[in-house]
Amino acid sequence: MIVAISPGKVILLGEHGVVYGKPCLSMAISLKVAVNIEKNKEFTVNSLPLDERRHVYIKKAIDKIWDKEPISITTFSQIPSASGLGSSAAITTACVAALLAIKGKFNLEDVAKTSFEVEYEVQGGASPNDTSVCTYGNAILTWEKKMPGYLWATAKDGREWFVYPVKVHDMKVVIGHTGIKSKTPLLIKKIRRFVEYSSFGRELINEMENLVIEGKKALENRDFVKLGSIMNENHKILHTLGASSKEIEKLRLAALKAGAYGAKLTGAGGGGSIIAIGDNPEKIAEAIEKKKGKAYIVSTAKEGVKILK
Ligand code: MEV
Repeated sequence: MIVAISPGKVILLGEHGVVYGKPCLSMAISLKVAVNIEKNKEFTVNSLPLDERRHVYIKKAIDKIWDKEPISITTFSQIPSASGLGSSAAITTACVAALLAIKGKFNLEDVAKTSFEVEYEVQGGASPNDTSVCTYGNAILTWEKKMPGYLWATAKDGREWFVYPVKVHDMKVVIGHTGIKSKTPLLIKKIRRFVEYSSFGRELINEMENLVIEGKKALENRDFVKLGSIMNENHKILHTLGASSKEIEKLRLAALKAGAYGAKLTGAGGGGSIIAIGDNPEKIAEAIEKKKGKAYIVSTAKEGVKILK
């Protein structure tokens, strides 16, 4: 038997832009998933037969790594599915890590690489951001720009990404989950159409670059007022790109009215969750719940994916 644990994630700044190589700042969070793998007579997931559609990420991970006897996979998750909080990335990363560990081939770079391939193929396009932050933990910057000190790098369809560690002191973030599923592949497609066919769309994506780099500096300097105002700017761009929804706007407004320095959608959008930062997380969480959102106060997960034996 082997168990792997992976954190979920929030994107602080730069979702969607990162699909086009723009920088993206994200942080692993204290909501986690665990995957338990045991020998079995047939392939099962949570006691059901392994199914290509229902267990699409796990099936793809098995196809890529596993050439051995049948196994049973059991998943446990604190992360609501399709919430923008990295539940698929965390399940993929934990599953890949556990399978590699059984084969004696566990190392973070291979986990990041294979997990990204799984997400990319299942979603029909993705950046390595989500699976990388689940793999390495703490905070990361994913960017097409090559500089010294990256953790790993990859390329797909003529685009390159370099993943950098970011220093983040323990930080609290308030999440407001709308309860509506965020359909990442659909959102990526919708925004791709906008970006490919309109120069305004491309300008919006380009605008994210400076914002994210300024936001990274603010995070490293613990200047949360500045980071919050950059999050607000980033949200406006995402809204114009078509990634927001009325439920997201409602929770975001509630968080800002409760004194948040900044609030934005996180992940692909269209539903899913918002994140907010401020000096009174409890008050922000209460305001979110009053508007029928599910609030979580999370902190930085220092560790990425790990194996428990
Ligand atoms: C989804 O969490 C983040 C997106 O930028 C997609 C990706 O980077 O793969 C929308």
